[in-house]
Formats: sequence, C-alpha cells, structure tokens
Amino acid sequence: MATLGVNIDHVATVRQARRTVEPDPVWAAALAELGGADAITVHLREDRRHIQDRDLEVLRQTVQVKLNLECAISPAMIDIACRVKPCQVTLVPEKREEVTTEGGLDVVTHRDATAEAVRRLRAAGIAVSLFIDPCPKQIDTSVDLAAAAVELHTGCYANATNEGDRHDELVKLARAGAMARQAGLELNAGHGLTYRNVVPVARIEGMGELNIGHSIVARAVFVGLAQAVREMRALIS
Ligand code: PXP
Repeated sequence: MATLGVNIDHVATVRQARRTVEPDPVWAAALAELGGADAITVHLREDRRHIQDRDLEVLRQTVQVKLNLECAISPAMIDIACRVKPCQVTLVPEKREEVTTEGGLDVVTHRDATAEAVRRLRAAGIAVSLFIDPCPKQIDTSVDLAAAAVELHTGCYANATNEGDRHDELVKLARAGAMARQAGLELNAGHGLTYRNVVPVARIEGMGELNIGHSIVARAVFVGLAQAVREMRALIS
C-alpha cells in the first residue's frame, strides 16, 4: 500500500513572504503527523527560498515519522545532509530560476556527481532516493549507482491535458515502476499529484511513498492541515 510523504515547503514559503516567524513549518509537520502523514518532506534549496537551515535542524529533532530531505547533488548540500542525517535524502535537480522542481535529476548526464553524492550519503548511513523521469536509462543508472529508491517524476502525468495523454503517462510510470521494483529499488513518486489525480498512481503495483505538497497545503488553507492530510491519506490507501 502506498504511503504519504507530506511536503511542507509551501508553509515556509508563506513565512518567507514576510521574513517573519509564522507560519512555522515545524508546526506544520506536527499537524501533518496528526493527520496521518507517513513521512515529512522538505527541500532545502540552495537559495533558501522557503525551508531554512534552522527548520531542518528542528525538524530533525521533532519529526517522529520518516524525515525525507530533498536536496541538490552539490557538495555543500551533501555536507549538510551528512551532518543532519535525515532518514532519507532524495536527490533532485535544482535551477535557481525555476518556480518548482522541473523534470527529474538526469542521473545519466550527471552520473559522476550523483555517484559521489550517493556514496557519501550511504557512508553516512542515509537511504538515498533519486528523483528521476520514468525512463529505462534513468532507472538502469539508478541501479548502478546503488540508490535504495527512485522517486518517479509524475509531472507529465499531472500536466496531461486529455485522457489519452494521461493514460500514456500512467503506462510509462507503471512500466518504469515495474522495472525499478524488479531491480530491487523501492518505488516512490511525486510532483503535481492532487486529490483528483492521485488514485491511479497510488494503485501502481509496488508503489511506496507519494510525496505531495502543493495540493495538500492549498486544501489546508480551507480545511486545516491535519484534515487535508487525512483526506489525502484516505485516498491513497
Ligand atoms: N517530489 C519532489 C522531488 C519535489 O521536488 C516536489 C516539489 O517540491 C514534490 C515531490 C511535491 O510536488 P507538489 O508540490 O507538486 O506536490
């Protein structure tokens, strides 16, 4: 059965809009746990546009479920990850000008730098997930790099504008998922998932963690975070 990782970056985005102390993503993590989150996910970006170093330090001490840190493969980010030691690090691509993560990490092109990041994280005892596009070459390379898991980028599925395209993207995700599972990788997925489109992805054979942020935080504005998480948790299970 799929599990739910709640990405709380957007709570920090609201705080950073005023550079104040509220809303605190640490509170958000606690409420998400009360709502049934299986994991808390944060992305410490190089430009610190939402999550701050302080958030990561406090969350490491307070989160009682799995803490999943998303970060770039840069040596400076890997230094932080190895020091804080979250349960899992998901390696993602990062461009300063993007609004959110666009596309998966190209582990074929960035093979050497990714290999070094994975090696250091594994040596620190941290499970590594690679956020990749659902394509065979990326999965083969993820296996070679000895990652524990892949997180399949669901953006193309989420952005499909008609049923035919959505179906094709779902088939790609299912095929990539089967390939990853057969190779012994844990299977995660995320990006652009909503209350309306999540169920077919949650039903993919062997699906593990679904990392969802925007849709849950958007609903939380109206129904509260614990309730929004409860509703998503119910849908995916
Ligand atoms: N997974 C990864 C690797 C991401 O970078 C993001 C966005 O930060 C998400 C999942 C969550 O995406 P969304 O906010 O669209 O649910």
